[in-house]
Amino acid sequence: MAKNQTLQLLGGLTPAQFLAEYWQKKPLLIKQAISDFTGLLSPEELAGLACEDEVQSRIVEYKKGKWFASHGPFDDADFAKLPEKPTNEHHWTLLVQSVNHHLPEATDLLGQFDFIPHARLDDLMVSYAPNGGGVGPHFDSYDVFLLQGQGKRLWRISEQTDLTLVEGAPLRILQHFETAQEWLLEAGDMLYLPPHLAHWGIAVSDVKADCMTYSIGFRAPKNQELATEFLGFMQDQLNQDKLVLETGYLTGIYQDADLTLQKHPAEIGHEMISKVSADLQKIKWSDDLVAEFLGVYLSEPKADVMFEANKKMSVHIFAEKLAKLGIALNLKSQMLFFADSFFINGELANFTGESANLLKALADNRRIEPRANLDEALLKQLYDWYIAGYLSFNR
Ligand code: SIN
Ligand code: CO
Repeated sequence: MAKNQTLQLLGGLTPAQFLAEYWQKKPLLIKQAISDFTGLLSPEELAGLACEDEVQSRIVEYKKGKWFASHGPFDDADFAKLPEKPTNEHHWTLLVQSVNHHLPEATDLLGQFDFIPHARLDDLMVSYAPNGGGVGPHFDSYDVFLLQGQGKRLWRISEQTDLTLVEGAPLRILQHFETAQEWLLEAGDMLYLPPHLAHWGIAVSDVKADCMTYSIGFRAPKNQELATEFLGFMQDQLNQDKLVLETGYLTGIYQDADLTLQKHPAEIGHEMISKVSADLQKIKWSDDLVAEFLGVYLSEPKADVMFEANKKMSVHIFAEKLAKLGIALNLKSQMLFFADSFFINGELANFTGESANLLKALADNRRIEPRANLDEALLKQLYDWYIAGYLSFNR
């Protein structure tokens, strides 16, 4: 990604300018971020996705002053219950998560946001709402780009610091909302919002279409989550004897040749506490180990993601197809790397030299062009990932 190239997607800013001035700092409205963008799928196709088992979806309804949320998979009867002509008193929206796992065009759209590291990207959520629909005034904990597809949406943002939520509501709704600015977004317009900025999007149907909004969402793990996961990772390292400490502490056993008589035999002695404390403090980790932890953890698929194994074929046939078609990450695959360590869907592989360069290209671009004469170990690795369903031949 060229840092100093201005992007229409960023309203004529360079990625470097956007990062320095706006990212995690302040909102940015971009008129015609993508000209001629009217969306990637129809309302019917979105509803179709919401009826599938492995797709996460929600219907949010507002009825006489109260909010309701239900979770998919939905069926025709669920949609039939919704008001055909929504009013201010009764409106609804459908939201479908991780559309990029199902639609190649959605993955391509996310590719335009490559100025943010893949480790920070979450997914593409798509919403559909007839006039007046939306998820109400709220704030999110994560950065988001809200790209308008068909129809229009009135976005209100607030400068308020009062982020008190309505108690007992099935979704996060702000008790009070004070509009500081509002814009009517049309197809191709985009609004960037930093975390914790209160906002409220209200669908506006135009003569041609109801509102569909594409949310390019980012992830930022909680520090507590990272610490919990890291300690679990360290425990695995320890159990697999991978945690070699210079002191040899972890291979030894508790010793107290200097034991002195205690007044209370049931008391845990200060000597024991300080000995164990000093020994525990010998547990150290390097940045390389943290990188391994991050790579495995951040590339792990979400709980509801399943990979379908590809039909078995010989390595020889696989190599032939690779030479003819090239290969791509499956839409559900997440691949990251650090130095010569490659992480795909929570699994680690190490490669150096030309093989590493090729895998870096696969991780960055999600695809590699047709290639023959690959190193044998790399070919075998790609083959295994293909059989596991992590890769697909280029479309
Ligand atoms: C939506 O598309 O309706 C919701 C986006 C948001 O406010 O986070
Ligand atoms: Co939001």
